[in-house]
Amino acid sequence: MSQERLKIEVAQAALKHVEDGMLLGVGTGSTVNAFIDQLAASGKRLEAAVSSSEATTERLKAIGVRVVELNHTGDLELYIDGADEVDEHKRLIKGGGGALTREKIIAGASRRFVCIVDASKCRPILGEFPLPIEVIPMARSFVARQLAKLGGQPALREGFTTDNGNLILDVRNLDLIDPVAMEDRINRIPGVVCCGLFAHRPADTVLVASEDGIQSR
Ligand code: A5P
Repeated sequence: MSQERLKIEVAQAALKHVEDGMLLGVGTGSTVNAFIDQLAASGKRLEAAVSSSEATTERLKAIGVRVVELNHTGDLELYIDGADEVDEHKRLIKGGGGALTREKIIAGASRRFVCIVDASKCRPILGEFPLPIEVIPMARSFVARQLAKLGGQPALREGFTTDNGNLILDVRNLDLIDPVAMEDRINRIPGVVCCGLFAHRPADTVLVASEDGIQSR
């Protein structure tokens, strides 16, 4: 089965968690795009959605979903998003699409976070995928030096600006054996807006699509 087909399968599985009239948080990326397509095909009617990126907002509006600001809602019942890597404790690396800050905010504001991935994203230990870190532009070099002191090899994501007007450093070689501790260390560096480790706030449920079907973890 192609990876595109697996994304559609896991998107359909995620729909089972979505109820009519829900206020839904929606992530960013190709798996979420498949979810938005399936949501449109399902005929389910949300009350509204809170979106994690301009790209997702555009897609949601195109299928007739009302997009509202998080500042105008209470906590959300459910957040659906993909990930770049998932470990067996449902901790994640996110931010391959650069939307990590808004994604982490919405995940934090949601009672349930259902993460949708294909099996290629599952790892015993996080860290093969370079860790995205959103930084304030004037702090770029300083933050990069601090990340090097933590053992990482940061690289600026060339030609990319986040929806918040910031930069992304993609960091290889960090030791993520204890992702909670590393998330704390990175969060303490002045100039870091957000780190793509979702260890303090892991997913509640991970739906994994493979040739064998959908596994719910
Ligand atoms: C967006 O910033 C990311 O966190 C995505 O959720 C992640 O990169 C997964 O994207 P794909 O579904 O495209 O693999």
